[in-house]
Amino acid sequence: MKRVAILISGGGSNMVALAESMVGDHPARPVLVLSNDPQAGGLKKAAAMGIPTAAVDHRPFGKDRAAFEAELLKPLLAAEPDIVCLAGFMRVLTPDFVARFEGRMLNIHPSLLPKYPGLHTHRRAIDAGDAEAGCTVHEVTSVLDSGPILGQARVPVRPGDTAEMLAARVLEQEHKLYPAVLRRYAAGDRTPVYLP
Ligand code: GAR
Repeated sequence: MKRVAILISGGGSNMVALAESMVGDHPARPVLVLSNDPQAGGLKKAAAMGIPTAAVDHRPFGKDRAAFEAELLKPLLAAEPDIVCLAGFMRVLTPDFVARFEGRMLNIHPSLLPKYPGLHTHRRAIDAGDAEAGCTVHEVTSVLDSGPILGQARVPVRPGDTAEMLAARVLEQEHKLYPAVLRRYAAGDRTPVYLP
């Protein structure tokens, strides 16, 4: 059984989708939900699901990412994860941190990578006049929002869409894509998943 740690910064809807999927004959189980924000709504949801939680507030560390990550590593290593899932984790990780989990850390990003790495992905897709948008699950490497693609889901961009409307449409697909990718990945299969 693979041990999965999930890193979040906010509401944690992707974390919930992942955790709910890891039941029955699924080859993995959630062992920790970890946040950089002690107030993150997802922490309470995880606790209610019986998953151990921890938080390391990044703010006291200012720009010292290495010092923040040293603290973040403590609960993470203690949980002995086989796989680390970034699920709406909004801190950029240093190459040193990423290297520790190379080949076993995944991220979900709300665009069809390689389009629109970084922030404001939905606004950028609408402004570019794109006919479709979506989300990507990829392996994390030291280059932001790059790394081998493990799955993508597409949605149409509709006339009159606001960034919020598009985000909601994409998020619905994120909740399907990430669990589908994790199930495959935890079974040792890195063949990309394409939805729908
Ligand atoms: C999701 O849309 C995820 O793709 C995005 O943050 C949201 C988190 O929602 N991640 C990023 O933008 C990473 N750069 P959630 O907390 O409800 O899962």
